[in-house]
Amino acid sequence: MNILITRKYPEAGLQLLKDTGYTITEYTERRNLTQEELIEACQTQDALISVGGNKLDETFFNACGHLKLVALMSVGYNNVDMKAATRAGIPVSNTPDVLSDATSDVAFLLMLAVSRKAIYMHQTIIDGKWDFYDPNENLGIELYNKTLGIFGLGKIGFELAKKCKATYNMQVIYHNRNHNDKAEQELEAKYVSFDELLQQSDVLSVHANLSSATKDIFNKEAFNRMKPTSIFINTARGQEHNEQDLIQALQQKIIWGAGLDVTNPEPMAKDNPLLFMPNVCVLPHIGSATTETRNAMAAMAAQNVIAGLQGKQLPNIVNK
Ligand code: DGY
Repeated sequence: MNILITRKYPEAGLQLLKDTGYTITEYTERRNLTQEELIEACQTQDALISVGGNKLDETFFNACGHLKLVALMSVGYNNVDMKAATRAGIPVSNTPDVLSDATSDVAFLLMLAVSRKAIYMHQTIIDGKWDFYDPNENLGIELYNKTLGIFGLGKIGFELAKKCKATYNMQVIYHNRNHNDKAEQELEAKYVSFDELLQQSDVLSVHANLSSATKDIFNKEAFNRMKPTSIFINTARGQEHNEQDLIQALQQKIIWGAGLDVTNPEPMAKDNPLLFMPNVCVLPHIGSATTETRNAMAAMAAQNVIAGLQGKQLPNIVNK
């Protein structure tokens, strides 16, 4: 059996694959394969481990008749046309749960960094501007007893809510397609409408999957409904907020601050105005970037491949 991996692969996953005796091809150049290259490479492959968001569309699935399965090393699957995969008879798996702690840590980190302008304050020292103590300067916002709003309360949102409640006694409100009974019971989270979420959140954190329903949902109209003291956090997908509208909302002080681990496009241009705003912190999509989590994700994707190539159902199949 032949397995293609689109990046240099974390050791825990690689070892599991090596132990099977299958032939592994790791693409180790620091660039994304083009679709033509990926299609060509997949002609002889039985399994593809997609790392880094390759676009897998109808053209790809129709052109890769030999492929038996695709394992994504990510929880998000917005780059995959699942209907086309299903039509082509190719199961696709993702890596849920194992990155919830690490990603919710980054949402928490952004919330705290923005609330105290930490990144900007660090830069003021580099710029030689730490020259005076004025009790009215450099002021942040405290998080104690504030309201955390979660858009898309799944596993990652739950972990963030748990940390915010335990650390800052934050009240949790959320908006989802469905009620989250566990969050309501364990965290006293309250289900609210999208409009109430916008109006009541002191910190609004995005955790929903990217879909046609969530694309651009945080736009001018949404920011206009938020509190002038509120902080917007996005660790899900950059296409869920409209960047120009976010820049304007911050410049016009319609909202107070923003923390982003995801941007649109990625990578963000180094002259993007968001990078120079005091109340903004932007990170380069590092939600799951810890040694432990990346190894756990790689192992989970490998286990899906191994199960699939043994003719079993992929444990984390998305297109059932
Ligand atoms: C995920 O797993 O979806 C992360 O955002 C990395 O792409």
